[in-house]
Amino acid sequence: MKKVFLWLLIIAIAAVFSLAGCKAEAAEVVEKAVTEEVADIPENPLYKDASASIEDRVEDLLSLMTLAEKIGQMAQIDRMYVGGDVISEYYIGSVLSGGGSVPYDNTPEGWADMYDGFQEEALSTRLGIPIIYGIDAIHGHNNLVGATIFPHNIGLGATSDPDLVRLIAQITAIEVAATGMDWTFGPCITVPQDERWGRTYEGFSEDPELVAELGKAAIEGYQGDDLADSNTILACAKHFIGDGGTSGGVDRGDTICSEEYLREAYIYPYINALEVPVGSIMASFNSWNGVKMHSNSYLLTDVLKEELGFEGFVVSDWQGINEIDGSAREEMSRLDIETSINAGIDMVMIPNDYRGFINMLTELVNQGKVSQSRIDDAVRRILTIKFKLGLFENSYADRSNFGLVGCEEHREIAREAVRESLVLLKNEGSLLPLSKDLDSIVVAGSKADDIGSQCGGWTITWQGAVGEITEGTSILDAIKDTVSKDTIVTYSRNGTEVPPDADVAIVVIGEKPYAEYNGDDKDLLLYTPDKDTINNIRDAGIPVVVILISGRPMIITEEIDKWDALIAAWLPGTEGQGVADVIFGDNAPTGKLSYTWPRSIEQLPINDTDGSKGSLFPFGFGLTY
Ligand code: GLC
Repeated sequence: MKKVFLWLLIIAIAAVFSLAGCKAEAAEVVEKAVTEEVADIPENPLYKDASASIEDRVEDLLSLMTLAEKIGQMAQIDRMYVGGDVISEYYIGSVLSGGGSVPYDNTPEGWADMYDGFQEEALSTRLGIPIIYGIDAIHGHNNLVGATIFPHNIGLGATSDPDLVRLIAQITAIEVAATGMDWTFGPCITVPQDERWGRTYEGFSEDPELVAELGKAAIEGYQGDDLADSNTILACAKHFIGDGGTSGGVDRGDTICSEEYLREAYIYPYINALEVPVGSIMASFNSWNGVKMHSNSYLLTDVLKEELGFEGFVVSDWQGINEIDGSAREEMSRLDIETSINAGIDMVMIPNDYRGFINMLTELVNQGKVSQSRIDDAVRRILTIKFKLGLFENSYADRSNFGLVGCEEHREIAREAVRESLVLLKNEGSLLPLSKDLDSIVVAGSKADDIGSQCGGWTITWQGAVGEITEGTSILDAIKDTVSKDTIVTYSRNGTEVPPDADVAIVVIGEKPYAEYNGDDKDLLLYTPDKDTINNIRDAGIPVVVILISGRPMIITEEIDKWDALIAAWLPGTEGQGVADVIFGDNAPTGKLSYTWPRSIEQLPINDTDGSKGSLFPFGFGLTY
């Protein structure tokens, strides 16, 4: 084999350090530089033989890789930082779209063109290892305008229907794969215990059993029977471990509990996920008893990989390793890298400072602080998934399914999911279902004509936004399309200027869109304008049906007595028609609460496990017609 010294690389690194004034490090790096053989690639290398076993292909490829090529596979960067020949120069193994990180041309073709461009560059490298592209497609291909947007997991939890959840994941995989993407950062199999947490809606339920059942179904839907199938994508169970159990529901906070409880409440759904098996798992920002999860080798390696036998790869969260050393989230240090990689992180969602990551990890390996065997284990796990996905054989986007993105058939399934997710909490005098032939209906409320609020966070942008952010049916439009042509529908956002003789008012209120820590809320109170709107309607003497659009149970105890009927609609997504289907009786409500509904904020955390101690509505509650 031809011997080629990598002094140039080492000197380049040394030059970087010397420029940065770190002469000592420069000397050390040069001194400790290793000479490395860059193996010649045989004419027809085994790793390119699709008839060979994946294990043999992985070992063959690994044997040909330089340290730089291996470390590159462990680096994941956001598409917004990919410019020039970054992917080929640094052998980058993965690209992601963080929330809202979309191509300028946000169409199926625009996504496929972007993906193919990155892939072409990756394949131009010496060994031609394709990238794997990850994205948060957590309730449909939710970054893509025009894609079908399904109810967020809290609504799917209310359906307790694993077959539906599996079908939704299958459809999401089709729409994601149609644009080239390989991997979704979902399902979130968190078990939220305190609704003050801004990510409650990303959880199916407070109940580990229900989360385990629905999480497994989602993974089966995303991954199908064969990851190499053009309509399947890699799933990512997240966030390991304890993200939903932090004190006070503080996002990225500290989950303080015994190991026994951690296993029963939070690790339990991962057992089901591993039965599929899920191909990737994302480490969690939170700490467990004060120890950052991204640094926890006991849980990431001893428990997850060795005891539970997880054979996929662990990806960090966004800058998730950066706070290990106690520094600011934006700063990544050698200690962060050394600790997280040795703890069992296989791929780092950097997502920007790839030069720093690669240089520091190279140095750590050369100094023996991160072993070659740890690097090889991480790269072996990543390459195994890439071969299972068939990325070496089918590297580019399959553009044949553009027409399925947001198609009517998919939207009908989303509409069914909306129907099944609705929970009827109050129905005074059996006011519901309403007749389609009423003379006069008022529709009011800040969320009545607002697709963006229906969809919630993680929709088109990271935080989501109010208004016409994508194609869909608002609840107002759905009502108009459902009632008879002789029924007068009066829309009044704040409930003023309404016909006093109206038969009924449907008032759609709730939360504005949010994601992650931006959704942490200490009060869970209704917004004053929403309460005012309902009072305006009440003052006019019109019966009130409230439709609550929210990412979690809210504190409504002081208000609910003024309402004649209440439906919890959660975050239903683009297909508002499903809400009208239930209001007007085409379908009876079947949803059941997958979270205990608190009577007061002082009760939190309140869950079924503590007997729902005096809750407003208990876990599992839901009326029907
Ligand atoms: C975010 C979230 C994680 C998501 C990732 C990539 O910070 O914690 O759920 O998958 O970054 O967007």
